[in-house]
Amino acid sequence: MADPRAIVALVILLFIFFSPPPGQEPLVHARSRLEHIVAAERHDLTILNQTRLGDFDPAQERWLNISGFRANDTFAWQALPLVKERARHQSAHALGHDNLVRLDGGDGDRPPLPLYRNVTGTMYGEWVRSPIQPSVASPKLNMTEYSPVGPFGPIPLRSFSKNVTAKAGSLEVWFEEADTQETLLWHEGKRVAREVKAQISVGDEEAGDSWDTRLFGVHFLETGNIMLATTTDKFAGIFGLPHMALSEYHYQSSQELLNRTLGLSISEQEDGLLRSFSPWAPTPDGTSDSSMAPTCDMIVYLQQHIVPVPGVEPGPDQESLLSFIEQEIRFPTGASIPPAQQMAFSMVAFSPDCGFVIESKGPPEFAPQEANHLRGLKLEVGYQRARRHLLLFAAVVSGQLFFFLRQMRDASTPSTRSRISFYTISMLSLGDGFTTMVFCLISLFIQTLWVPLIATGFLAFMSVSFFGMRFLMDIWAVQAPERERRERRERQQRQQAAGPPAAATTVPASTADGAPAQPPPPPQAPIITAAGAETLPAPVTAARPVDTGATPVFIPSDQDTQAEEDAPNAAATGVEAGQRAPGFGSLYTRFYFLLLITLFLSLNATSWPSGLRRGYFTLLAFSYLSFWIPQIHRNCMRNCRHALRWDFVAGQSLLRLLPFAYFYGYENNVLFAAVDLIDLGILAAWVWIQVLLLLSQEIIGPRWFVRGTWVPPAYDYHPILRDDEEANNLPIGATTSMPSPEQEKEAKDKGKRVFDCAICMHEIEVPVLNEGSAGEGLTTGSLVLERRKYMVTPCRHIFHSSCLEGWMKFRLVCPIDREELPPL
Ligand SMILES: *[C@@H]1O[C@H](CO)[C@@H](O)[C@H](O)[C@H]1NC(C)=O
Ligand SMILES: *[C@@H]1O[C@H](CO)[C@@H](O)[C@H](O)[C@H]1NC(C)=O
Ligand SMILES: *[C@@H]1O[C@H](CO)[C@@H](O)[C@H](O)[C@H]1NC(C)=O
Ligand SMILES: *[C@@H]1O[C@H](CO)[C@@H](O)[C@H](O)[C@H]1NC(C)=O
Ligand SMILES: *[C@@H]1O[C@H](CO)[C@@H](O)[C@H](O)[C@H]1NC(C)=O
Ligand SMILES: *[C@@H]1O[C@H](CO)[C@@H](O)[C@H](O)[C@H]1NC(C)=O
Ligand SMILES: *[C@@H]1O[C@H](CO)[C@@H](O)[C@H](O)[C@H]1NC(C)=O
Repeated sequence: MADPRAIVALVILLFIFFSPPPGQEPLVHARSRLEHIVAAERHDLTILNQTRLGDFDPAQERWLNISGFRANDTFAWQALPLVKERARHQSAHALGHDNLVRLDGGDGDRPPLPLYRNVTGTMYGEWVRSPIQPSVASPKLNMTEYSPVGPFGPIPLRSFSKNVTAKAGSLEVWFEEADTQETLLWHEGKRVAREVKAQISVGDEEAGDSWDTRLFGVHFLETGNIMLATTTDKFAGIFGLPHMALSEYHYQSSQELLNRTLGLSISEQEDGLLRSFSPWAPTPDGTSDSSMAPTCDMIVYLQQHIVPVPGVEPGPDQESLLSFIEQEIRFPTGASIPPAQQMAFSMVAFSPDCGFVIESKGPPEFAPQEANHLRGLKLEVGYQRARRHLLLFAAVVSGQLFFFLRQMRDASTPSTRSRISFYTISMLSLGDGFTTMVFCLISLFIQTLWVPLIATGFLAFMSVSFFGMRFLMDIWAVQAPERERRERRERQQRQQAAGPPAAATTVPASTADGAPAQPPPPPQAPIITAAGAETLPAPVTAARPVDTGATPVFIPSDQDTQAEEDAPNAAATGVEAGQRAPGFGSLYTRFYFLLLITLFLSLNATSWPSGLRRGYFTLLAFSYLSFWIPQIHRNCMRNCRHALRWDFVAGQSLLRLLPFAYFYGYENNVLFAAVDLIDLGILAAWVWIQVLLLLSQEIIGPRWFVRGTWVPPAYDYHPILRDDEEANNLPIGATTSMPSPEQEKEAKDKGKRVFDCAICMHEIEVPVLNEGSAGEGLTTGSLVLERRKYMVTPCRHIFHSSCLEGWMKFRLVCPIDREELPPL
């Protein structure tokens, strides 16, 4: 019998193959619907062609016979003259009062204004309610007229979507101008107007969400004025647009241009060359669905501000230099040009059906520092900048890789690898994997930046797949026995908690006075040997209550934990084999699964309300930047230090913070993310607090901040040496033959002893606590640092820390008697 899963997969595949593409209607239906639409559009175009300025004048009860412009629509057209006045006011402020006559075509032989002729790009700013809003009467619409028709009849409608209800919010305008002669209007040898496409995104400050809508209109090239309108079933905005013009001159230019371009579009639609039924619809894919709630329509006036051209006196030179710059940044020839200035626009938007009037926030009503209308870069300049920033980011990734490789080379022996936290390296690699995925994804959407995006993504990919994964695999292999031991112990403890076997007896780990009666079995490395009597009791430092802990340690009656640990298969049954720690393969799967989940969640989060979105990304950043925490934890649990190189720690902390500094702290970042120095401060502080913790573990001791009993006992290589009645843990080989009795006495008074280091053959002078100096505060302060200089092995040999650490990188046995050493 076939695998049922294969059948399911086959059915799904067949379904995908044979299901019709979404949104496609039967051909006959589509044909008749298209004819209907084209006929309506032709009618509207005739109105556009045949009307004159003044034919639409709501104040004198003159209406147009196109949807939205009829008397029975009851739109708020009474406000139109006020809105036009407001738009002229903004133009006057942007161009200067004496340039206002240019709107009427009266520029005669004055030099052209220094304005960008191609406004393709994205502008960012804020909007506020217009001062004329109170004088705009709210339109009284018969909502039942606009109810969408669902499968069970009309759906009751309360309000339109894309309505503005807040007082202020964010504003984003994206322009696109095609470089074709069809969409361009010439007049007496001058370029006068061009068709322009735009998308406006209006954010709501209170609700924290935003909507966007697509508009079409005319860009008057001489004055930098732009007129846009939405087009929906209830509002034939683009066909009535000339009647919204600010002057007779604009009316004529726009009518002539639109008459031509709309006529061409309709012909294309008739010939089946346009795929969408409504080429001017406000949704990006050009669909207008009658079962969806209607949206508010808009008429938008924009005025480009005069571009400052440094170093050239006002006049025709400015304009020619600017058009040269424009040409040069689009088709670079290598000419040296001044840096391209950003574009600025003022905006007034009016909704005749929803009755709102909003404006871009800026002078003269607001101080320029507070908000300065809409600003943004020309597309080419934006790409240039993005390319530069991507290059910098690639350098950052290379830097990360550089430090990573040095660390990998340093941690080339099992002993050094076993100190490194697997999870710290995993988190760093996850970050690189995330970069790879995001960059590959973005490169699909931005064709122009494909090469730098893919190159940077590849660098990150190399970092994660070739080096990160390799290093993780090494660490995983080295730490496998440790994990198995831990699992076995946990299992044993569970079993014993369930009901201790008769053979097991409970031996208290320590007697009341704090000196261990029986050395507790160290968790990571067994140091109990057959010669148990010679074994050094785990030295006790005063600050470690864990060794005096009352936690009972279970030891089988034969007291041979080692034998049991060394022979896991003695008691091993099939059950135990099934409970083994997961292999690296499953870890690999988990790694990529986590990566994909994070990616999809983040993609989803980009469409959340802005507050939630910001919270999510800050949380994500915070958990990512906690990458030193696992290392601190591991240092603490194993009582070891110096797992990672310091240049690795500092380099990674700095380089991995840089992208966050860019998005949170740099105003002109490519995403135009708002600057948030508080969040950035928190993130940076968090990383450096972790680094400080690592540093303090190195200097003071890996466990200085732990006061609980939850850390497993571990061997302490830096014990406080004592020479008194209650405890004598002096290493073997104290140089008792001091040169002279006086010197010996002097050394003893200072609480020092001299030993030989068998590795470098030099002397070690170590502080020793004896009866005289006990309790004189030597235990703290200077002793903390002094203790770091020597190391005592469990077999009571003493070495310089640097000597033994160098040795232990390669062999975990004592250089003198080959006794096994617990890992550092
Ligand atoms: C536009 O109007 C002119 C007359 O003013 C007429 O000749 C022409 O056919 C009309 N064009 C269209 C597309 O309606
Ligand atoms: C408006 O145009 C429609 C055709 O779309 C026509 O049936 C109607 O009579 C016109 N109304 C007026 C007042 O001209
Ligand atoms: C207005 O009148 C026209 C016919 O002239 C009709 O087609 C349209 O549905 C009416 N609109 C409203 C909102 O009543
Ligand atoms: C709204 O329009 C519906 C039909 O489209 C009509 O029955 C109803 O009377 C109208 N309501 C008002 C208040 O005009
Ligand atoms: C738009 O919102 C305003 C409130 O700000 C409300 O008065 C108006 O009725 C709404 N218009 C529509 C068509 O939903
Ligand atoms: C404006 O610039 C964009 C981006 O370079 C280009 O795609 C477009 O064709 C240009 N349009 C015009 C009218 O020059
Ligand atoms: C509109 O275009 C037609 C040709 O498609 C032309 O005959 C007519 O004069 C134009 N009308 C105006 C007002 O430019």
